[in-house]
Amino acid sequence: MEHQNVKPFPKNFFWGASTSAYQVEGAWNEDGKGPSVIDVGHHPEGVTDFKVASDHYHRYKEDVALLAEMGLKAYRFSIAWTRIYPNGTGEANPKGIEFYNSLINELKEKGIEPIVTMYHFDLPYALQQKGGWSNRETVDAFENYAKTLFTHFGDRVKYWLTINEQNMMILHGTAIGTVDLHLENPEKELYQQNHHMLLAQAKAIKLCHEMLPDAKIGPAPNICYIYPASSRPEDVLAAQNFNSIRNWLYLDAACFGRYNSVAWSYFEEKGYTPAIQEGDMEILASAKPDFIAFNYYTSMTVAHSNKDGNDRHSTGDQQIVIGDSGVYKGHTNEHLRKTEFGWEIDPVGFRITLREIYDRYHLPLLVTENGLGAFDKLEEGDVINDDYRIDFLREHIKQAQLAITDGVDLIGYCPWSAIDLVSTHQGISKRYGFIYVNRDEFDLKDLRRIRKKSFYWYQKIIQTNGENL
Ligand code: BG6
Repeated sequence: MEHQNVKPFPKNFFWGASTSAYQVEGAWNEDGKGPSVIDVGHHPEGVTDFKVASDHYHRYKEDVALLAEMGLKAYRFSIAWTRIYPNGTGEANPKGIEFYNSLINELKEKGIEPIVTMYHFDLPYALQQKGGWSNRETVDAFENYAKTLFTHFGDRVKYWLTINEQNMMILHGTAIGTVDLHLENPEKELYQQNHHMLLAQAKAIKLCHEMLPDAKIGPAPNICYIYPASSRPEDVLAAQNFNSIRNWLYLDAACFGRYNSVAWSYFEEKGYTPAIQEGDMEILASAKPDFIAFNYYTSMTVAHSNKDGNDRHSTGDQQIVIGDSGVYKGHTNEHLRKTEFGWEIDPVGFRITLREIYDRYHLPLLVTENGLGAFDKLEEGDVINDDYRIDFLREHIKQAQLAITDGVDLIGYCPWSAIDLVSTHQGISKRYGFIYVNRDEFDLKDLRRIRKKSFYWYQKIIQTNGENL
């Protein structure tokens, strides 16, 4: 629909930005923090690990001051489970609680709304050694961790996100570094883990509502609408398959408390059906999220795949279709450009995705990631001319506004990332931030913060509530 009049952004719109603990904090083993699966995982050759990252743990005051200068209304960050519980359960670590208390206080003092992700890929390694999400005890560990977070931070944190990109941990966990490489029957096991994560999420949502009646809580998957490669009915079926397996499986479980039927038939076909204990479905159905947070980087396109074809590739990260013979196979969308890292750029797909999610679930939506990973260049005089990032964000914000005009209840937009951080598997050179961090893969330099051109641009967008895109 081409609107004659575009609606303005709501008055209290959360213009924000996002990070995650392990990608930005560093201090990986300081002040009692235990190791996470990320800390002990392997790192692709040629890229840094997460030990120092952007050193935010030591520089959070300076960073929050910069976020305030940019004018952020909200800041979405994650809490490292291993700072609170170094072993996943047991004794809580007072130093970890102290750090997040200070960070939250700093944000509140500056008038920035904290939006907290409870778990962003960094499962405590101690839990992984006991089977990780394959072990049902991890569900209890998560509930216990959630209780601790609500107890200590619930007086100031009003927006909670349960699990970041559960769907990407299932579909692309090997690239991200969350999958235990010793799993014997990975897919079957991953869908069992998925079931346990759904339970953990539902329990956390229920608990949040009991303990903090004024707070709001929701899931945070990566959702992108899947296009068929053509109008051929078989391609449309393939797109429905992948939409169900990648997107609706997660949101149907979170919002309706049931398994998506197409995804379930896929499990049956492939032998991936998870074991569901008595009472599990009641737990899923009893938890109702208050909003849906989601991350969007690109759309995806798929085509029909033959059962005896060879359409499953071993490579592919979060935004590259791996494919599955007899279900769907990846297809390049010739209408779209790509980033330097091969991710297709699709702002209109963002509007389509927003409309689709809202129509299916009728809950307020919060965008918790969207952004462009690029090789930024630090020029003389501490200048970073990241016009490509400005263009990317502008085009997506325009489409968000159109989605609002379409009737979507969008409450905020938190691009990835507030400040440069270490990518999940492509190092610090794949930069996303509004603020440059002066370090290379292996040379930490002085880690100083430098405002990019996009910093000033976003500052204006926020000041004018998106009036002059
Ligand atoms: C999302 C994650 O998948 O995409 C982030 O939630 C991640 O943690 C972001 O950094 C960008 O992906 P990448 O692989 O470029 O870091």
